Amino acid sequence: MKNKTIDIYCFSGTGNTYLTAKKIAATMEESGCIVSIYDLAKANPKDINLSHIIGIGFTVACWNTFPVVKDFINNLPTGNGAEVFVFTTMGDSSLNTAGNFSCVLNNKGYDIIGAQGFLMPNNFIAVQKEEKNILKREKAYKKIELFANQLVDGSAKHYRTNIFFKVCFSITNFITNRWRGKVFQKIVRFGLEKNKCVKCGLCIKICPVENIEYDVRNYPIFNGMHCQLCMRCISYCPKHAIKSFLLRKTYKALSIEEVKKWII
Ligand SMILES: Cc1cc2nc3c(=O)[nH]c(=O)nc-3n(C[C@H](O)[C@H](O)[C@H](O)COP(=O)(O)O)c2cc1C
Ligand code: SF4
Ligand code: SF4
Repeated sequence: MKNKTIDIYCFSGTGNTYLTAKKIAATMEESGCIVSIYDLAKANPKDINLSHIIGIGFTVACWNTFPVVKDFINNLPTGNGAEVFVFTTMGDSSLNTAGNFSCVLNNKGYDIIGAQGFLMPNNFIAVQKEEKNILKREKAYKKIELFANQLVDGSAKHYRTNIFFKVCFSITNFITNRWRGKVFQKIVRFGLEKNKCVKCGLCIKICPVENIEYDVRNYPIFNGMHCQLCMRCISYCPKHAIKSFLLRKTYKALSIEEVKKWII
């Protein structure tokens, strides 16, 4: 590592990637680093400080990631050799998402000092029981700690790619780039069970892309065309009032209090 000031830009829907960023930060701080964590969805990529080490962490979605994360990466300035590391969290498999985005960053002139994906509890469709989730997180924490120490001593794994991953990346890019299209947004639009909703407004405040609004009676409406499918609103609604045909069971890595402290 050229210097010990690190800025981590993190996108996390339900908290797994945020916990990963915090673990990386805590481990690096033990080695004398100064680490700041920023919300990638709110950050302006043009404002990043290239004299710091940059960390970029995000959720794997459809073996790729959310459009808001891709916008951030695509709009970063030319790296001119600035050091960057990439980390992702996934429920099952990522098809080398961390490596694929490292290639994108490398092509923009960044020097990749490490790239790794971590298996964390699944927050989508195949949500497991909390006992299993706890074990999965504990296992991941050990690997995350190792990765952070390797970043500090310069031995972290670098990205790798091959023709198979490149083809898969093109396909998953094609799909995820269309998530903000009208057709997709209409298909996945969430519903509200008004008899359960207490109009607390939490879902509106925590949506990373301001996709939810109040209606005239102060109920949330999901008419926006920007939903990333990050699962945050549906998972953290305290009354389980948000419904989707995509999800029967929800997952949250943090308590509602922790999520408020993190985002609001
Ligand atoms: C829309 C969506 C798509 C997902 N696609 C994948 C996937 O392709 N592969 C995978 O292993 N996990 C997938 N997941 C699961 C998440 O990557 C995983 O649970 C992650 O740790 C969640 O991180 P977060 O809490 O920081 O958002 C998906 C989750 C969502 C919401
Ligand atoms: S978080 Fe749940 S209860 Fe609160 S406004 Fe949104 S849907 Fe209603
Ligand atoms: S509407 Fe819900 S799932 Fe969609 S981006 Fe906002 S918080 Fe995430």
